[in-house]
Amino acid sequence: MAKYRIAWLPGDGVGVDVLDAARIVLDRVGLDAEYVPGDIGWEFWCAEGDALPPRTVDLLGSVDAALFGAITSKPVKAAAAELKPALRDQGLTYRSPIVRMRQLFDLYVCLRPCKAYPGNALNFREKIDLVVFRENTEDLYSGVEFSPVPAELADVLGRLAKPFGPFAKLPGDQYAVSCKINTQRGSERIIRAAFAFAKQFGRKKVTVVHKANVVRATDGLFLEAARTVAKDFPGIAWDDANIDAMTMWLLKNPFNYDVLVAPNLYGDIISDLCAQMVGGLGFGCSGNIGEQLAVFEPTHGSAPKYAGQHKVNPIATVLAVKMMLDWLGEAEKATALEAAVARVIKDGNVKTYDMGGSSTTLDMGRAIAAAL
Ligand code: IPM
Ligand code: MG
Repeated sequence: MAKYRIAWLPGDGVGVDVLDAARIVLDRVGLDAEYVPGDIGWEFWCAEGDALPPRTVDLLGSVDAALFGAITSKPVKAAAAELKPALRDQGLTYRSPIVRMRQLFDLYVCLRPCKAYPGNALNFREKIDLVVFRENTEDLYSGVEFSPVPAELADVLGRLAKPFGPFAKLPGDQYAVSCKINTQRGSERIIRAAFAFAKQFGRKKVTVVHKANVVRATDGLFLEAARTVAKDFPGIAWDDANIDAMTMWLLKNPFNYDVLVAPNLYGDIISDLCAQMVGGLGFGCSGNIGEQLAVFEPTHGSAPKYAGQHKVNPIATVLAVKMMLDWLGEAEKATALEAAVARVIKDGNVKTYDMGGSSTTLDMGRAIAAAL
């Protein structure tokens, strides 16, 4: 029996392409693993009304880790229109499977390292080395949303919240409500993860990202949680910044920052910005990490227009594999893999289209495998 069971979830679009490249690399790394394919993606939404079918949830409950490619997501109405006729009008609503996976398995840490590998012409600056800790289960991603807004909810809000006044007169179908829910436990544990990481890896500072000056209840709680947690890490410097200012300062003074921690949506935004600073989404890798399970993925989406062409850059996925190896405790293999990626980038002989070259997804996978 293999040492590890890994769920293999290509999804759709270019998710399939990049996982093909990841497999070339993993076979070369020689991880003692069984890769168990799982059904996930747009085709399962259309055919079954569920992009993350129960059998895949069961699979995820039985593996050490998962590698996930990408999935096409469409807005509610467009998604409903693509359901097979027999499933229409049953009240099925599409929800992003990756978001569901994060919540179902309490994968509360979204870890997104953004490192400028030397010689990557796409680097915004050389030597950028930022790490984003994004809360991954709550906030505006809670899924508690109303459209139309039921009269019952409007009544309660009208009674309890003065600022609701101007909205109270609107018919329920003329507005929508998405709840931003942040818990003390959820906030403290992601902030603690960021501080613990800073301590373990000797990082110089943690920056807490929020908008507590306006979004006072939830982001106020997040900032307060940071103050509490920081007391347990007297050796780690920290500061905080509003999300809007953060996007400016990151571009202006990227070297003033090191580890960033944020609630879910701000973390989503800031991690795309950080990824762009080190070469774009072709280099952005991500770990969704809980106590029992972790799901690793490239941050980019499914880019349906490139599906099946083996055109996109698989480096983000290969770096996600590197994160998976670290998480499994295979540090030596992880370090070797990262070195191989760095080597291929530096040599500059194999470049996918985003890097200004014409190498394919599989060429890149093979080049990294060869550099190992
Ligand atoms: C990400 C993505 C997802 C998110 C989408 C695909 C639901 O943007 O992982 O950053 O918003 O979390
Ligand atoms: Mg995102």
